Amino acid sequence: MGSEEKEATTADTRPIDRDNNNDEPSMTVSLFVFLVIPVLLFSLFSRLTVNTNVKPIELNGYEPLQFERRKPAGWQRRPIQDDLSVPPPAPIPLESAPSSWPTDYKHVLSTIQSRRRRIEMDRESVAPQRRPSEHESSSANSNSKSQTNADKRTARRRGGADDDARLMVIDQINSLEEAYKNNSGDLFAALDFADAMRFYELRYHEGGTYEKKTIQMYEKIVEMALERKKEALQKNQSTSKSSNPSVASVKDEISLSNREKSIDGLLCAIYTAQGKVFFMANMFERAVESYSSCLDIEPGYLDAVNSRGSALLILGRYSDAARDLVQVTREDDTLGFSDSYQGLARILQTQEEAVVGGWDTLVEPVEDLLPKLEGQFASAPAHSKPAYAAVLTRLHHSMFIYHDAKTKDASAAFEHLKTAYKHKMSILPPWQKGSELSRISQTKNIFTSGFWPSYVGSESRIPIFIVGFVRSGSTLLERVLDSHPQIVGTGENSVFNGRLPEIRNEIVRVSMESPEILGDVTRDLAAKVVLEMKERWEALKEANGVEEVEHEPARLVDKMLTNYNNIGFIQMLYPHALILHVVREPMDTLFSAYKHEFPSGTLDYTCDFESLAELYRAYREIMVHWDKVLPGRVTHIRYEDMVNDMPGVAKKIIEAAGLPWNETVLDFHKKKHAVNTLSTTQVRKGLYKDGMKSWKRYEKQLKPLAKMIGTLVEYDLATNLKGYTPVDHKLEDDAVH
Ligand SMILES: *[C@@H]1O[C@H](CO)[C@@H](O)[C@H](O)[C@H]1NC(C)=O
Ligand SMILES: *[C@@H]1O[C@H](CO)[C@@H](O)[C@H](O)[C@H]1NC(C)=O
Ligand SMILES: *[C@@H]1O[C@H](CO)[C@@H](O)[C@H](O)[C@H]1NC(C)=O
Repeated sequence: MGSEEKEATTADTRPIDRDNNNDEPSMTVSLFVFLVIPVLLFSLFSRLTVNTNVKPIELNGYEPLQFERRKPAGWQRRPIQDDLSVPPPAPIPLESAPSSWPTDYKHVLSTIQSRRRRIEMDRESVAPQRRPSEHESSSANSNSKSQTNADKRTARRRGGADDDARLMVIDQINSLEEAYKNNSGDLFAALDFADAMRFYELRYHEGGTYEKKTIQMYEKIVEMALERKKEALQKNQSTSKSSNPSVASVKDEISLSNREKSIDGLLCAIYTAQGKVFFMANMFERAVESYSSCLDIEPGYLDAVNSRGSALLILGRYSDAARDLVQVTREDDTLGFSDSYQGLARILQTQEEAVVGGWDTLVEPVEDLLPKLEGQFASAPAHSKPAYAAVLTRLHHSMFIYHDAKTKDASAAFEHLKTAYKHKMSILPPWQKGSELSRISQTKNIFTSGFWPSYVGSESRIPIFIVGFVRSGSTLLERVLDSHPQIVGTGENSVFNGRLPEIRNEIVRVSMESPEILGDVTRDLAAKVVLEMKERWEALKEANGVEEVEHEPARLVDKMLTNYNNIGFIQMLYPHALILHVVREPMDTLFSAYKHEFPSGTLDYTCDFESLAELYRAYREIMVHWDKVLPGRVTHIRYEDMVNDMPGVAKKIIEAAGLPWNETVLDFHKKKHAVNTLSTTQVRKGLYKDGMKSWKRYEKQLKPLAKMIGTLVEYDLATNLKGYTPVDHKLEDDAVH
């Protein structure tokens, strides 16, 4: 906290009209307690009522592999690590339909997700229909009761279903930790525990909750496994023979449970898992080292080859990345790692000469595969269709990138894109029409003008929040900030977001029990988040050998785009922190969001016009709301201004952050520090080239989307950085370099 107090406050941009009624704090307190809290409680808990009888699923809260698989005789629930290591490879390209899942666990995870949603939907349709308006009035009438109930529960983030699963995973992690601590010499107990945390990070990765602990655990596990190998070698035992006679080589052991693996197979699995943890923590160099340790043992271990390719891509080592990804496409008979095709397409799009043989290396095998797979998909039994759909999504999407970037054949490109998404949507549970808009309207109902008592929140200006719609240019903005010697970006994991359930919970609890300490509590929470952001940065710096920042960073950037929903809570904790909103021309934003195939997770529904349009409308609506209830609080920055006038915009941003100008900011694209977002390849090129008005090439195809957003197709919100005057220029079809 000490350093927080001392930090520079040169900027006089006191961003918010604060409540002037300081002489009447008790009035504010009681208003807050009696009016606001019940509403807040309602919003947090009302949707959870169906879940009271959810019984914790034993062992694996998420038991994915049982899904739609016939249980063989003698089937037993497998230990937790099997959720992460992979089920038997499915022979997709062969004539017969796959009998089980492809080896790609990302796909498996997305299937788990769908399944869970489906279960919840079934449950809801069985349970009496909930009518929010009725609940609202009844909960208003019986405040005290709902408060007590709510008090017993835990605040949850995005609806009950997801959070129940999340809490179950946490329970599971706790008990695996206990088992590990009971017997800390047990390699498998250690691995089960670490894998469970890794699962959590992958599934709920925005918070990075277990990041540090997971990294430490895998380090221990590697040591333990190496020790085993040493012992075996001393005893002259084979290190590469698994206990399962049907598996002949280490590279095929990916389908075995950890306990069946040979020592080398186990080491490969451990190194690969470790690499993935580093990857998620943005420690890409370390990730590459781990994957390479596995590949030193078994060069054909495709999970590691594929993962190393992705890490190298992010590091901008395109030729090395291409070599790995090409190897995967050649050797991956079961198409378990079909994301390698998309990775390859991204490299080709950025630097064609990095791939030996150029686009042909990608296009020839894909054009050969597509018709076969489409045929097999059509005749596949229902239970194996999702596996095909996942692969087809990626292959068609690679072909979209090809036509978009290389042949410039807009109609062929768009045809592939649409087909890719038809397959993608076939695996997802249907979009719940209206869900996003109703979420936003709840938020609006809670955070009304005057919601924020003047005595809450920290003075700290250390965090800088970047919000905006996906693909609005936020990565560019983050890189610019990060290039200042006193500002650091902390990657994709938002500490604030990860802690949000806890923050919300604490605020609600304290407001009810002892509102007089709410100010202190919000300041404590604010300090905790900042401390954790700093720790995260320290770890990252150490792992990546970043040397640029010698002194303590004065500002830490939190880039969680969807935080546009959470500005109300940001304001509770940090009423003085800079909140930057990147705004981009609507159709450019939408097309860019649409054309990117995001890994499964929160951005699933950008691949369909209807849901994308709703997400966008909701975003616009809530941004208007914040401007209304917190006038001037959010600083808007037009992406187009950044591209056209970076020096001018950057100076004012640094000024708004309260820091002295430094020319290094304009060299943002030279910075080595890797970024793991889809924009990586673009940021490395300098200012986005595919930037402005690129949607025009697809104007015809995008017409229905434009129609769905109606008048929102115009967005004249101007950059409101203090002291900034936009440079007047016309927007060219080709972006400025
Ligand atoms: C750990 O050990 C304690 C005491 O021996 C025992 O009660 C507990 O059940 C063990 N926990 C696990 C998860 O094995
Ligand atoms: C180890 O195994 C090899 C081949 O299997 C054998 O030639 C050698 O004698 C063994 N050494 C010991 C110490 O058992
Ligand atoms: C800008 O940053 C560089 C690198 O940290 C530093 O050496 C230099 O002194 C800074 N310049 C100014 C004007 O602060």
